[in-house]
Amino acid sequence: MISDKVLLTSSGSYLPNNIYSNDALSKFIDTSDEWISKRSGIKNRHFVSKNETTSDLALHAALKAIENSTLDKDDINLIIVATTTPDNTFPSTATMVQKKLNIKGAAFDIQAVCAGFVFALSVAKSLMKDNNYKNCLVIGADSMSKLLDWKDRSTAVLFGDGAGAVILENKENIDNKLDDWGVLSNVIHSDGEYYDLLKTNGGVSTDQKIGFIEMAGKEIFKHAVEKLSLSFQEALKLSYKNIEQIDWLIPHQANQRILLAVADRLKIDPVKVISTVMHHGNTSAASIPLALDYAINNNKVRNGHLIGFQAIGGGLSWGASVVRYGKP
Ligand code: ACO
Repeated sequence: MISDKVLLTSSGSYLPNNIYSNDALSKFIDTSDEWISKRSGIKNRHFVSKNETTSDLALHAALKAIENSTLDKDDINLIIVATTTPDNTFPSTATMVQKKLNIKGAAFDIQAVCAGFVFALSVAKSLMKDNNYKNCLVIGADSMSKLLDWKDRSTAVLFGDGAGAVILENKENIDNKLDDWGVLSNVIHSDGEYYDLLKTNGGVSTDQKIGFIEMAGKEIFKHAVEKLSLSFQEALKLSYKNIEQIDWLIPHQANQRILLAVADRLKIDPVKVISTVMHHGNTSAASIPLALDYAINNNKVRNGHLIGFQAIGGGLSWGASVVRYGKP
């Protein structure tokens, strides 16, 4: 029997039009470009406009990913949206994207906050292999601005809105030609012991409100560096690769200091670490596919490159993947 392989063949991304610089924020909260830049590396963030929803962001990114692929939208029969900021509490944002694309198949959301994209990638690969879905859109999309408490300057300055999408294709591995291509390994972890370190202070079944983000910044920083490093080493081992073979590391874009600390721990040259956090801040589940799309468009990630993803978010939830991008 011929086995199949799940290839990652295309990407697209979208940032909403309203750009807020650090200086713009400092006009209405007590902060400064110097503090934000030094602590996080962030310079700008994009915010949705009043009537723009997460599914609008997701749709833009999905259409770009389809345009950049060799597929037609009707070839897609699975949509997974990683999001913490759905259009409605239910149904899923993925079904709204499906409606807007006017296509059929299965569609659902995944909630693992900033780790959502690596969780979605992992679930997508398993589903495609087990149930023979042919082509899948994995989208990370978030409107984090809706969860910001502008009275809490230590978190409000860190987040932004956006979406990124990738297309996964399920291909038969004839003559083992695809052995070293596609999604090679995924690891996902959660530890509810740390539930309170990063959360909203409200929710549907708690107080019928969506709540605002609350974060224990220093603790999150320490967990992030440790867990991102360990889980990436785990993903490398599962894919029988070593760090020297990685062409590009594409981490969740939360904070430039976390990116550099992880690069240092993993002993990977920082020039191989894609960083876009300065342009859009922490866009939660959108940040990895946004950074991947940026890297492809800027001729960094090219067909056949070995790339690594890693992310951590509330839960705590975290994970990593190793992928050979493109197709032979
Ligand atoms: N502007 C100016 N000053 C500020 C601001 C601000 N926006 N926010 C806090 N401060 C002040 C504080 O009030 C404090 O002042 P004080 O010393 O007079 O009391 C001072 O800055 C230092 O505050 P700390 O909280 O100690 O600052 P720290 O150096 O820890 O940096 C930060 C805060 C940037 C949040 C840091 O802890 C961090 O990067 N944590 C990781 C956060 C992160 O990236 N989370 C996302 C990862 S996980 C995920 O994506 C879901």
